[in-house]
This record gives sequence, structure tokens and C-alpha cells, in this order.
Amino acid sequence: MSIDQPDAGHLQVGQRLTVTIEKLATGGDGVARPEGFTLFIPRTAPGDVAEVAVTEVAKRYGRARLLSLVLPGPDRVPAVCPLADRCPGCQLQHLRYDAQLDAKRAFVSDGLERIGHLRGIEVLPTIGMETPWQYRNKGEFIADAREGRVRLGYQDDAQGFVPLPECRIHHPLTMEILRATEAVATAYALPLAQLITRVSPSDGQALAILVCWAWHDQLPAAAEALRARVPGLAGVLWSQVRGRSVVRRTLADPLTGAKALVQRLGEWEYTVSAESFFQVNTAQGTRLLELVMAYAGPLDGRFMADGYCGVGTFLVPMAGGALRAIGIEEHPAALRDCGENLARYARHDVHLYEGRVEVIFPRLVRKGRQLDVVVLDPPRKGAGLAVLESMAKLNTARVVLVSCDPATLGRDAGDLQALGYRLETVQPLDMFPQTWHVETVVLAVKDGA
Ligand SMILES: C[S@@+](CC[C@H](N)C(=O)[O-])C[C@H]1O[C@@H](n2cnc3c(N)ncnc32)[C@H](O)[C@@H]1O
Repeated sequence: MSIDQPDAGHLQVGQRLTVTIEKLATGGDGVARPEGFTLFIPRTAPGDVAEVAVTEVAKRYGRARLLSLVLPGPDRVPAVCPLADRCPGCQLQHLRYDAQLDAKRAFVSDGLERIGHLRGIEVLPTIGMETPWQYRNKGEFIADAREGRVRLGYQDDAQGFVPLPECRIHHPLTMEILRATEAVATAYALPLAQLITRVSPSDGQALAILVCWAWHDQLPAAAEALRARVPGLAGVLWSQVRGRSVVRRTLADPLTGAKALVQRLGEWEYTVSAESFFQVNTAQGTRLLELVMAYAGPLDGRFMADGYCGVGTFLVPMAGGALRAIGIEEHPAALRDCGENLARYARHDVHLYEGRVEVIFPRLVRKGRQLDVVVLDPPRKGAGLAVLESMAKLNTARVVLVSCDPATLGRDAGDLQALGYRLETVQPLDMFPQTWHVETVVLAVKDGA
């Protein structure tokens, strides 16, 4: 046992102790160090003096549960949501909003330093929202049926099903659909496993996907009943769970009404199918688009690519300025939407590839192609070394990397530096207020470019 990494010899599961919270860890848990041992405690704030109960002890760290506050820290505010103590959704709701933004900046710095081994990189202050509530345009809720009554909420590892009578971060229309779906699914005895909602805040229209354990003959009638209850509900689709977990399901089939919504980011309009990815926070999505375009710089006469292009959120506005543009996307529905969105703005020369960036980039390398500017907005797992290496072989001078996970951002940023790119700007953006999650936009420029 070393002095700076004491083991947990003196701590036991169930033990109660009083601790002071030093800081927040990535993930939103408060960190205390009783006698030098690291304890993670959810729903605590820096400076809190708290009575806690130890729930888990490992060799190098432990976890504890907040029992009571002895003294609140300076950044603590009363949580506005009555479910704040139970719902796993908003890990930072008990923090002042400016303290949430500071914490997210620290999460990004920590990812760059600890995982990317990058020292001395300036991380800009997190860009927040004026009103950090009711921002989510996408909802995913688990269904629970007991005694003939269907309720919707979240699944939590520790508590099981948590019903959701209200939520302050979802768009109000989402909550209207949720309540109507509970009533309709109960009345029609639907074998509902999950509800997915999409809202277009600019025109107040929404889609709902009823994810069921199996087909039910009452589904079409239930879908009509749902639309009759919620005027903004433009379409209802259904899909079927594959296997035992709602994570895997069939592609959604329409039951009634529209299959896609029109989403707007600033002056740009996008067709977005029920299952295509779209930025979950429309207001911050507009800021993200502005940042990506500014970091990409002037595109005239240049070749650009948008890997992970989705419905064309960045590709559609940017393609107009470039000499040649390509988009790569693996999801067929998103790619179809992207084609439609490019056509809406007469971007006829853009080459769209259906497939994985890790396959398409090496193919472009083999063809001897060059890409001056590349935008990469991968899912949580990040781009990874193989994609970044092949991008470097395409002689890319400017990379705009968008990340929703500080850990994989740190790894990708470290790899970019090792490949000869200089991190010019690291800008966190609060896409997910009240939660620990943070979006980051990075501009990396090839040394000597
Ligand atoms: C975070 S979203 C970004 C989409 C788009 N940039 C936007 O802002 O709307 C990631 C997108 O990459 C797609 N995707 C995931 N893995 C991929 C891969 N290996 N190759 C290509 N596309 C991928 C997903 O289907 C999704 O549309």
C-alpha cells in the first residue's frame, strides 16, 4: 500500500461517516477522501459536509450514498424537480447553473489530461443556455404494466422502474404524449415495452414510436386514439423488441400520419425520420452548427468531408461553400434524410457514402484522394485511432471534432496530437443541462498547415 493510494482497510459497506466533498468527478458524483481513500457520492456538491453510508468498497475507491447534509456547499441550490432524489436523469440539478458549466469544463480538461495525456491545453468556458430547461426534443421511456395499468418512466439499476409523472428537461409536448400513451396503452392493453418521442420545437409537431413486445391488432386503433388526444402528434409508428432487451428493436413502421419531422437549426431546415439521429437540444444545436462552420474556416476551393454526417446537419450548410464535399453515414434512414436535405438546398454534387467511416476513409486513401477539411461527429465511443490515422493519410489540414464524451474525446485528441495535429481550440457546449453530459467542439490543425 502506497501513501497516496491507501486501500480501503478501514472502510466497510454499510459504514456511516461524515465527509466533505472536494470536487465533482466526470459522471457527476461528488468526490470525498476520508483518510485519503477516494469515495464517490452521487447527488453531492463541492463543499458539502454530508453524512453518507458506504455502499461499495473496491481496492482503490469506494461508493457511498448521501444520507443527510450537515452543511450545504456554496454551489448547492434546491432541486426544482420533485423526483430529483430518485430519477437517474439529472445528476447535477442540485448545482447552480454556472457551477454546472464550470464542472463540465473541468470534465473536459480532465479527459484531455488523464486519458489523452495532454498537458497545458486551454479549455474555453462552457457555452450555456439562457433557459436550461425543457430543452430535450427526444425522449425514451420504459413501460411498466402492473394490474392492467401501463406507466412510463426510467429503468434504474438500483431502484428498478421509476415512473415519471413530470420532467423539467423534456419539451412539454413530450410529457403530453407520455401521459396520453399511458392512458391509451392501458385502454387498449398494448404490450408496450418502450415509448420513443421526437419533437420539432419550431413547429410544435411530434412523432411517437410505440415499441412493443409483439404485434397487437389494436395498435392501429390505439395510434389513432393517441393522435386524437394530442393535436401536435403528427405521426405514430411502431417497432418490435428483438430478444429480451428494448435496446434491440426492428426498424419503425408507420401506423398513422407522418413518418418524419422538419427540424430547424437557425435558417436551416432538415427532414428527420423517426429513427435518424438529430441533436437533442435544438437551441444549442444551432450554436453547435455555427461553431463547426466557424472552425472549419473558408471552404471555397477545398475538399471537405463530414464523417458520421447523420441527416446532414453540418454537411448541408457546408457543402455549398466547398469545391467538393462527401458525407459518410451508416444508418440507412439518416442517409436517406441526408439525401433529401441536400436536394432541398440543391447540393447536387455531394457524394454520399452509406457505410462506416473506418471502411470508407481507407478506400479514399487507396484511391489517392485528399481531404482538406474533415468534420467528425462520432457516437459516444469516439472516432478511434484507425479512423484518425486514415484521415491523416488523406492530407487533412483542419479537423473539427465534435464529441459527447470527455473520455473518448481525451483519447481521440491524444491520438490527433500524436499524428501531428495541434489542438487550437477546445470549446465545451452545454447540450444537456442538469445532467453531467457535455458536448465539446475541437479544432485541430496539422502542424505546419
Ligand atoms: C453523433 S451523431 C452525429 C450526426 C450529425 N453530425 C448531426 O449532428 O446530426 C453520429 C452519427 O454517426 C452515425 N454512425 C455511427 N457510427 C458510424 C460509423 N462507424 N460510420 C459512419 N456513421 C456512423 C450514426 O448513425 C449517427 O447518425
